[in-house]
Amino acid sequence: MSDQQFSPPTSEWYHPTEDVINNAHVPDYEEVYNEAANDLEGFWAEQAESLDWYKKWDTVLDDSNAPFYKWFVGGKTNMVLNALDRHVKTWRKNKLAIIWEGEPGDKVTMSYWRLWQEVNKFANVLRSMGVKKGDRVTIYMGRTVEIVVAMLACAKIGAPHSVVYGGFSEQALADRIEDAQSRVLITADGAWLRGNIVELKKVADEAVRRSPVVDTVICVKRTGQDIHMEQGRDYWWHDLMALPIASPICETEVMDAEDPLFILYTSGTTGKPKGVLHTHGGYQLYTSTTLKWAFDIKDDDRWWCAADPGWITGHSYIVYAPLILGATSIIYEGAPTHPYPDRWWRIVEEYGVTILYTAPTAIRGLMRFGDAWPNRRDLSSLRLLGTVGEPINPEAWRWYHRVIGNETCPIIDTWWQTETGGFMITPLPSVSLKPGSATRPFPGIKVDVVRDDGTSCDPNEDGELVIQGPWPSMLRTVWGDDERYLSQYWEKYKKFGWYLAGDAARKDDDGYFWVIGRNDDVIKVSGYRLGTAEVESGLVSHAAVAEAAAIAVPDELRGNVIYAYCILVDGVQGSDDLVEALKDHVGHEVGPIAKPSKIEFVDSLPKTRSGKIMRRILKAQAMGQEVGDTSTLAD
Ligand code: WTA
Repeated sequence: MSDQQFSPPTSEWYHPTEDVINNAHVPDYEEVYNEAANDLEGFWAEQAESLDWYKKWDTVLDDSNAPFYKWFVGGKTNMVLNALDRHVKTWRKNKLAIIWEGEPGDKVTMSYWRLWQEVNKFANVLRSMGVKKGDRVTIYMGRTVEIVVAMLACAKIGAPHSVVYGGFSEQALADRIEDAQSRVLITADGAWLRGNIVELKKVADEAVRRSPVVDTVICVKRTGQDIHMEQGRDYWWHDLMALPIASPICETEVMDAEDPLFILYTSGTTGKPKGVLHTHGGYQLYTSTTLKWAFDIKDDDRWWCAADPGWITGHSYIVYAPLILGATSIIYEGAPTHPYPDRWWRIVEEYGVTILYTAPTAIRGLMRFGDAWPNRRDLSSLRLLGTVGEPINPEAWRWYHRVIGNETCPIIDTWWQTETGGFMITPLPSVSLKPGSATRPFPGIKVDVVRDDGTSCDPNEDGELVIQGPWPSMLRTVWGDDERYLSQYWEKYKKFGWYLAGDAARKDDDGYFWVIGRNDDVIKVSGYRLGTAEVESGLVSHAAVAEAAAIAVPDELRGNVIYAYCILVDGVQGSDDLVEALKDHVGHEVGPIAKPSKIEFVDSLPKTRSGKIMRRILKAQAMGQEVGDTSTLAD
């Protein structure tokens, strides 16, 4: 349980204007929610009619082997059929799909037609390199147009992609390549961040050395510095795209609704990352329906999801759902504060962004620079704002609402997970808001806050957040590990058939949900998800460390920061230099976001008699609180 003082103002209301309500796709939340609750399958079947299918489904939901649920069984589709192929047959072919800006200021715009052609070309390149339906392709890139093209090209030929966030290091990348057994890696020479080059290819080279299953590397030229290109293994993207084989005509692979679309690795409670598996059919439907209704996407919108494509937020709401809806998306490569703290606000102004979706950590980070930066920019195009990734503190919510949203933009606080594929608890624009609450479940979703025995918590009582029934974009399994899928998500409330989210939450007197934080050994740092076990194995992979424990400690800016406790091997002396060396080591082994902000050397770690580290005790100590019940402590 989170030990933060959690007492948000549950009676502070923000009501939408008549205008917002009347113009929304869903003006009456209750009505649609009840309709879905009364006939779940009928409801999803009706929504699925808005998509194109090569062949319609026979069965909406097959729960005969629950919790291995199947959706739209017998249906034939492909993500790209709906994200691109159908649009180029309409007026939308000339609509902008992507407006991209690089950190140094370079710009690219792409119509649906152009994007479709680029995807076709790259899909042909992949096919010519022997990539077939079912083969996994790993993508390790920054925020460029090419990452979108690469993902869609994989989808088009039925090769599940595994995108690894560009902030991860050698070992993390190598582990993910190995687990997915992918032969092909798509990367870039680098990415721009805060005026510096992130050396992606260098990391990729080392990862490939550690996991030799890769025989082909395709590299986008982005930053232009000298890099090593291995003869016979490495190819430049632009060289391949100039070959005759890269024809702009390419047949889309017909996929079963339940065929894998992608694997996305996410942190869990053990050191081994989980490959969350999503499929072509249900995921398309759910992500596009949630985006359309929660963010009220219309044809004249300019949608900006400021996440990284390497995380689920980017997969679902930069790449897939906006394209299915035929929307225009903004993608910005770099840091929000480069070269000045108004970079984002300038982008909103310049492109007339109408909807901005970001994370609390970014809001807090920009809030620090004061109101003058946003106030000097024309933000009047904005009509909706969104947040995701961690609980938003009411203070940041109010700033976002007042300074960025001019007190008129509803704030759509979306609670969801890599595993859920799309928003689960979120307001629709017509729903009244309370700062810090993700409000109510999306139509078709039933959630509750429960006690360990499965009984419902009373209003305002903390408990476990559970999802009480299947939804179309639910993860289908953990890649190669059905056992883990069962034990992680379905074991605890097996007798009820509920999905365990792993979050602590509370429901107030009005039925509004308040997510408090992770209930397990997962840490959220600046909205990024990490396992304590990953940080710990990063630490013990250093020769000086015998044992380590990592915990999350609340931080005003980043949500949480990591504190680590290390037992050193015999004969090694702790020092400030070693602290720095260990931080760098973790940054190098796991990724910069995993760097502990504090490392302490200790002689022992608090453990249970069965040898589990009691992080709760470390945390209480770090925060200067009472240690609480220590009866299970061994020592
Ligand atoms: C947290 C990100 C509070 C939560 C889409 C969840 C949130 C985890 C919110 C999933 C929110 C996400 N309010 N907490 N609006 N959104 N979380 O897989 O702890 O990176 O379990 O997916 O982020 O993180 P993931």
